[in-house]
Amino acid sequence: MEKSFVMIKPGFLEFEPQIVERLSKIGKITKRQKMKLNNEILAAHYHEHIGKPFYEGLCKYMKSGEVVGFQVEGEDGLVEKIREAVGSTKNPEKGTIRHDFGIGEITRNVIHASDSPKSGQEECNRMFEQINQFGIEIL
Ligand code: GTP
Ligand code: MG
Repeated sequence: MEKSFVMIKPGFLEFEPQIVERLSKIGKITKRQKMKLNNEILAAHYHEHIGKPFYEGLCKYMKSGEVVGFQVEGEDGLVEKIREAVGSTKNPEKGTIRHDFGIGEITRNVIHASDSPKSGQEECNRMFEQINQFGIEIL
């Protein structure tokens, strides 16, 4: 079994029904929460990107509004299947979530999805089990 943490980014919450429909064809949504992120949790979530040219802008955007996070569970291969449904970072293909609901911007690219089973476990744990440690209010 695998877990993926999927998050609808600020400004795209209106597409939650369509996104849920697509995710539900791949796995089972077992947790959902709406929240507003802060610098502390973003530094943990995006630790591999700290110091990159886009990091500050990415955090500013990710703090600019509400997000909705999901834990999606399923059989082996789930994480990869969800990444395929999400689409690539720079050039998402037609039929993917980033293409179909996006505005063609790399930063505001609709949605986050875990990139490996290991990060899926870690991100779900951080965002659902350890969330209080970051002072995040669940909305
Ligand atoms: P996530 O599912 O959100 O983690 O996206 P990803 O795995 O496709 O991309 P990655 O982890 O490399 O980057 C995290 C996020 O940073 C992306 O979703 C983008 O929002 C943003 N990002 C990544 N690369 C760039 C870049 O070159 N320029 C800008 N402006 N933003 C970037
Ligand atoms: Mg990533």
